[in-house]
Amino acid sequence: MAPQVNLRPLEPDDRARILAWRNAPDVRAYMYADHLISPEEHARWFAAIPDDPTRTYWVVEMDGAPVGLANLYDVDRRNQRCSWAYYLADPAVRGHGVGSYVEYWVLEYVFAGLRLAKLWCEVLASNEPVWKLHQTFGFTLEARFRRHVVKDGEGVDVLGLGMLAADWKAKQAQMAERLKLRGFEPPTVP
Ligand SMILES: CC(C)(COP(=O)(O)OP(=O)(O)OC[C@H]1O[C@@H](n2cnc3c(N)ncnc32)[C@H](O)[C@@H]1OP(=O)(O)O)[C@@H](O)C(=O)NCCC(=O)NCCS
Repeated sequence: MAPQVNLRPLEPDDRARILAWRNAPDVRAYMYADHLISPEEHARWFAAIPDDPTRTYWVVEMDGAPVGLANLYDVDRRNQRCSWAYYLADPAVRGHGVGSYVEYWVLEYVFAGLRLAKLWCEVLASNEPVWKLHQTFGFTLEARFRRHVVKDGEGVDVLGLGMLAADWKAKQAQMAERLKLRGFEPPTVP
């Protein structure tokens, strides 16, 4: 049976957990900033979240246990768009459909909930499973930023992907079927 997946708002108790996740090699490898984040740097970042209307974070829970983080950032009402990112901290919970569930949830939140016109994201070009997953959901490859970030001392390429509200409308039913095939009930987002 598929696990129960839930996205809930951040709580104060998540602070230490997220620092540990974010500094784990299996997460750091996929992020732009791959230095070890100090508790002070993390505390400043965490404390600023509630007052920042351009960012929203959710903890992903699997069968009631926290397993990852999803977020919107650069929420830009004037241009009706925002960006997003997510990770599942423990590699053992990856590859079982949880990421697809989260992707569907975020798309519903952005287009049906916030009624924005566009969702976009950036992915390291080397992270092929993730940009392919985004394309499966209907994202279009819009940019290749050459030598855009330095990872392990080397400049690497980044891909920019975007989805318009109409793209999601065209894909949603197919993606709902995809979730059902994996045993998940497609979420409706408030
Ligand atoms: C991205 C991530 C959240 C996806 O979650 P997930 O639970 O692994 O995703 P799913 O199980 O729904 O898999 C979706 C598809 O991607 C494929 N996939 C996922 N990870 C893969 C990997 N490492 N290698 C090959 N394929 C992979 C799956 O096979 C699946 O394809 P299919 O449905 O055609 O079989 C998760 O892999 C992760 O946290 N990765 C590290 C962090 C990261 O890269 N975040 C994105 C940064 S922009």
